[in-house]
Amino acid sequence: MNLRDRYINFFVERGHKQIPSAPLVPENDPSVLFNTAGMQPLIPYLMGQPHPYGTRLCNYQKCIRTTDLEEVGDTYHHTFFEQLGNWSLGDYFKKETITWSFEFLTKELNIPIERLAVTVFAGNDIIPKDDESIEIWKSLGIKEERIYPTENDNFWKVGETGPCGPDSEIFYFRGNEEIPLKFDPEDERWVEIWNDVFMSYNLKEDSSLEELPKKNIDTGMGVERVVASLEGYDDNYMSSIWKNPRKKLEEISSEVYDSNKKSFRIILDHIRTAVFILADPAGVKPSNTDQGYILRRLIRRAIRHAKKLSIDTNSSWMEELALIFIDDFKNYYKELEDNKEVVLEGLKAERIKFNRTLEKGLRKFEKISDKDIDGITAFHLFDTYGFPLELTIELAKEKGLNVDVEGYNQKFREHQELSRSSSQGKFKGGLAGDSEIETKYHTATHLLNAALKEVVDKNIHQRGSNITVERMRFDFNCDHKLTDEEKMNVEDLVNKWIDEGLDVRVDEMSKQEALASGAECMFIEKYPDIVTVYSIGDISKELCGGPHVKNTKEIGEFKIIKEEASSAGVRRIKAILEF
Ligand code: ALA
Repeated sequence: MNLRDRYINFFVERGHKQIPSAPLVPENDPSVLFNTAGMQPLIPYLMGQPHPYGTRLCNYQKCIRTTDLEEVGDTYHHTFFEQLGNWSLGDYFKKETITWSFEFLTKELNIPIERLAVTVFAGNDIIPKDDESIEIWKSLGIKEERIYPTENDNFWKVGETGPCGPDSEIFYFRGNEEIPLKFDPEDERWVEIWNDVFMSYNLKEDSSLEELPKKNIDTGMGVERVVASLEGYDDNYMSSIWKNPRKKLEEISSEVYDSNKKSFRIILDHIRTAVFILADPAGVKPSNTDQGYILRRLIRRAIRHAKKLSIDTNSSWMEELALIFIDDFKNYYKELEDNKEVVLEGLKAERIKFNRTLEKGLRKFEKISDKDIDGITAFHLFDTYGFPLELTIELAKEKGLNVDVEGYNQKFREHQELSRSSSQGKFKGGLAGDSEIETKYHTATHLLNAALKEVVDKNIHQRGSNITVERMRFDFNCDHKLTDEEKMNVEDLVNKWIDEGLDVRVDEMSKQEALASGAECMFIEKYPDIVTVYSIGDISKELCGGPHVKNTKEIGEFKIIKEEASSAGVRRIKAILEF
């Protein structure tokens, strides 16, 4: 029988009612993006409200922990995991729960007692040492050297406020070597598999503790770790839980998994989590905020690692993998079957979207990663190539480089401000539309204007321009058809300026002052007495209503598509930007 069923049966036999797994996105708790523990949906009841099912509850609960998402990739952490839990709402307390934990592990699962160790609360100024638990563990046969008191690691809280209490954690020795007599928290072969929390306090905003109306029990056992341990693996991803998806990924990548293949673990973990998020009733879709951003990061990081395994990311590899997860878990989580199409469509759409820019983004990253990544560049990678900041950090880390996160955040805030201003119509004149892409094209026309002067003839001036989100058109005076070499040199120069990350500055001044400073302008009579002048580094200065990007790095890659005659003595360039 499956571990979930054995667990539920064990506790039902001991008077517990099974409650359903709650949705991943909490229904009434905006303090977290996802349930991080089985107890999260039970907070009101732990705080004292009566539960309709009574005082003894148990279930298996979908959880997601996103702290250190980028660290996932080792052999025993997961973003999504299932927690088995039993609860007492003011009913039984330490003796019963510890005894049942012990019985379930040693009698029901037949784990030899030699493989077990426990930690207990060592006490502090407010709460005394947990001698009671120590005595209970000893009475069950756990040796003193396997009972390890700590202060900080044995006090469990759900967040900065809310129900909490001292706990006792149970560790399993995962290794084929001789088991050390003494428990050592630094020895990674000891893996925590179960936590019994004696939840009798409420942590208040001023950090003080008040006693809850009732003493509760909250426990949590990680399914993935226990299954792997029982099956004798020290790598969770080798266990039966991951067998089918692992085989599928082996087939897709034509590689055989072993514990050195971190990309395998990242893909398996992240796609499984993405499948569960997409199937959740909250209807989360990939986006740039909240749960949607986590989902986006998971999918995009998985795609990046698929590329590392030389998987054709344009194929439907991700959906194929998702189908395996859906099949494997649907008997326990019906929503996977019910929302199968939503899951598959969601993955496909995000895959197609990211594939459009991933390759170019990676090439761009290669070009610029000879030094630490500044905030503007990190933002450019996000804005133009869809690289979540965390992906850029991961790429940088692989090359031993740092990313200016603060600079990125600042740029991000400025950008939000700019988008808000644009949508409120704060920018007048200049452009037909104020979309981001048009803004980029707008700055690119200034660069093109400057490049033509430098490459072709310093007397070239703008005669007209037209911008859509698809392309730019730029008319200028010139007495000849541009040669291929001229076109190439103009294109290269514009791209060089883009790559250099030149700042774009805006100044207000009188029209006379602007002209005297050498600012370029097409129809001087059209401008008011006070004008705005946009300067790009020291290569361009034009009277203009804006808006413009803040730095040329934001523009993308500039490409001339066509050069042709417009009217007598006027040539026309059509160019596009690639993001
Ligand atoms: N809520 C406790 C935990 O997640 C049991 O460790």
